[in-house]
Amino acid sequence: MSLTVFAPATIANLSVGFDLLGAAVEPIDGNLLGDRVMVEGIAKGIELESVGPYKNFLPEKEDENIAFLCARLFFEKAAKLKNAGIKITLYKEMPIGSGLGSSASSVVATLFALNEVFDHPFSSEELLLMMGEIEGRVSGSIHYDNVAPAFLGGLQLMLNANHKLCDSIPVFDSWFWVIAYPGTSLNTSKMRALLPEKYGRADLIRYGQYLSGFIHASYKQNEKLAAEMLVDVVAEPYRSPHIPGYLPAKCALSELGVLASGISGSGPTIFAVADSKEVAQRAEDWLKKNYLTSKGGFVRICKIDRRGARVV
Ligand code: HSE
Repeated sequence: MSLTVFAPATIANLSVGFDLLGAAVEPIDGNLLGDRVMVEGIAKGIELESVGPYKNFLPEKEDENIAFLCARLFFEKAAKLKNAGIKITLYKEMPIGSGLGSSASSVVATLFALNEVFDHPFSSEELLLMMGEIEGRVSGSIHYDNVAPAFLGGLQLMLNANHKLCDSIPVFDSWFWVIAYPGTSLNTSKMRALLPEKYGRADLIRYGQYLSGFIHASYKQNEKLAAEMLVDVVAEPYRSPHIPGYLPAKCALSELGVLASGISGSGPTIFAVADSKEVAQRAEDWLKKNYLTSKGGFVRICKIDRRGARVV
């Protein structure tokens, strides 16, 4: 038996929730943005083949590839599968180091597919813990703000409670999310190392206000308030100088009428929120002309992907 699973691109942090908030997104043009993984039972062992536009950016050694690491962890934890085997084909369609949850997309698609093909040995909660573990190995620290939305869809708030790792919060149906990946890549561990070890009291209070204000406004469905709260005091001040063109883009986007903008994950992708398609298209045009580099990149107008990982 074989099956293919897709896991969507994600915007982690959303300015106000460093390591705590993440949204799954889908382009409005109907194309999928995310990795796909095909799994097929074989007699024994783990076989891996990588294909797709970004396969050449993956580690050469098979046992450093995250899809392989996922399968190894899955078999280690599922005692009854110790004699099972799997062939994995990773369709690497997300650019690596883009800030769009590329590794999370591969991890989620692989573990979801394995759980499907072997008839659900793990609960969703157990699967999510494994996803976080692998994500932690590749980025230097465990955070769920990409894997949780890629797996469950929607806008996810990390709770890290004993009985609940995360939960979805309401989204604004009218919002368009414009994402621009400039074609360059940044290393998440290095972007994390730029952040201070400690923050001052004033920042702490502003941080609490913005995050709680955004969550409050989301539940109240108060768009204006939610957009006003999307201010990043934790990462943007320290990361933005390392993302070429980011601050001018943020200024230009604001003049074009977007409600808010910020760094997607650890960058270099920038995201902008617009409450109409016209403004989203203006932002798209500007970003295409000014934010993409000679290395390529892309701009997509998206909506929130409510479905998360799924068999395709
Ligand atoms: N919350 C993480 C960070 C996401 O910003 O470092 C990285 O993918």
